[in-house]
Amino acid sequence: MYRLVYWLVLQRLPAEGTHRVSFGLLRLVCMVPGVKALLRWWFTPGDPILRVTALGKEFPSPLGLAAGFDKNAEGVRELSALGFGFIEIGTVTAEAQPGNPRPRLFRLPRDRALVNRMGFNNHGAKAAGDRLVRRPSDIVLGINIGKTKRVAEEDAIADFTASAEELAALADYLVVNVSSPNTPGLRNLQAMDKLRPLLAAVRAKCDEVSPMRRVPLLVKIAPDLADDDIDAVADLALELGLDGIIATNTTIARTGLATPDAEVAALGAGGLSGAPLKQRSLAVLQRLRARVGTRLVLVAVGGIETAEDAYARIRAGATLVQGYSAFIYEGPGWPKRLQRGLAAKLRAEGFARLSDAIGADVMS
Ligand SMILES: Cc1cc2nc3c(=O)[nH]c(=O)nc-3n(C[C@H](O)[C@H](O)[C@H](O)COP(=O)(O)O)c2cc1C
Repeated sequence: MYRLVYWLVLQRLPAEGTHRVSFGLLRLVCMVPGVKALLRWWFTPGDPILRVTALGKEFPSPLGLAAGFDKNAEGVRELSALGFGFIEIGTVTAEAQPGNPRPRLFRLPRDRALVNRMGFNNHGAKAAGDRLVRRPSDIVLGINIGKTKRVAEEDAIADFTASAEELAALADYLVVNVSSPNTPGLRNLQAMDKLRPLLAAVRAKCDEVSPMRRVPLLVKIAPDLADDDIDAVADLALELGLDGIIATNTTIARTGLATPDAEVAALGAGGLSGAPLKQRSLAVLQRLRARVGTRLVLVAVGGIETAEDAYARIRAGATLVQGYSAFIYEGPGWPKRLQRGLAAKLRAEGFARLSDAIGADVMS
């Protein structure tokens, strides 16, 4: 049904407007008493085989909504009611900012891909924190933080720690995002001499604001890193006692697309997500797993569309998986479909629980 509406109507409308309207509609219908509970009942797989313990939490399922969909924590309950095992909000920056001029989000339907240069449009850390104070404790929530655009690269640490100060205590896990291509200079922070003091400072801030509960800290990396740099980030994460790595963000590459080059070029700069990212994201995950083994929680994201995709990432070593573009193309039934398929796959392959499948390809 959603796919039909998508092909007939939604894909003809501007991408960002459609996103805003659909997200707004979801929140609106959820204001009707009982609707959220009904959605939750209908969409949540509730299959015990999907449960997984990670980052000190029990996740009802390994499938999460990736960062960028709910940048301001405006619909955590409503999105969770669509059956996601966890929600990652953000990227949130210390200061509110408008993001890049529109248009800044584009569909490439032939490639089941998106190009975006949103530029961290968000209401700022204080506003997100205010919204999250009353969030239900039964939803697993990740908070993704990034650098305010107007802040210079050399002042990035203070900017990130200001966000961490506001948000860390509210997060089941916190993510340092140094991999979005749409904030000038952000990805330079992936270089070791910049990343080490940044991650160490955010780690220290988390411990300061939440001394009783250690807030798990992860770093989200770009698929465009050279292999040696992936190894270096992995080693650093271990050295600093981080909890995990999210791989990957969008890519600046434009290779292997079915959409004609001229059409792609006309869209301009931005990060490419969706199906074309699948292979590279998987390769980054495999490299990380080879480097860190089971010492870090690996979260796979990038081109995950089907139960088979999710299953392949889990077998390659991911404990958790996330998606964004497939949710846009497939609609509200997507999380349920993927999770049912994943549960069936696990059973068919003889696994009693998801955790037994994590890294199965690596160990055999
Ligand atoms: C419109 C859009 C906005 C995004 N915004 C963010 C963001 O603010 N922070 C972030 O870490 N990732 C952001 N992402 C990246 C996604 O979280 C994800 O890493 C990427 O899209 C690859 O997953 P996918 O192929 O399932 O879409 C964004 C992606 C899209 C399409």
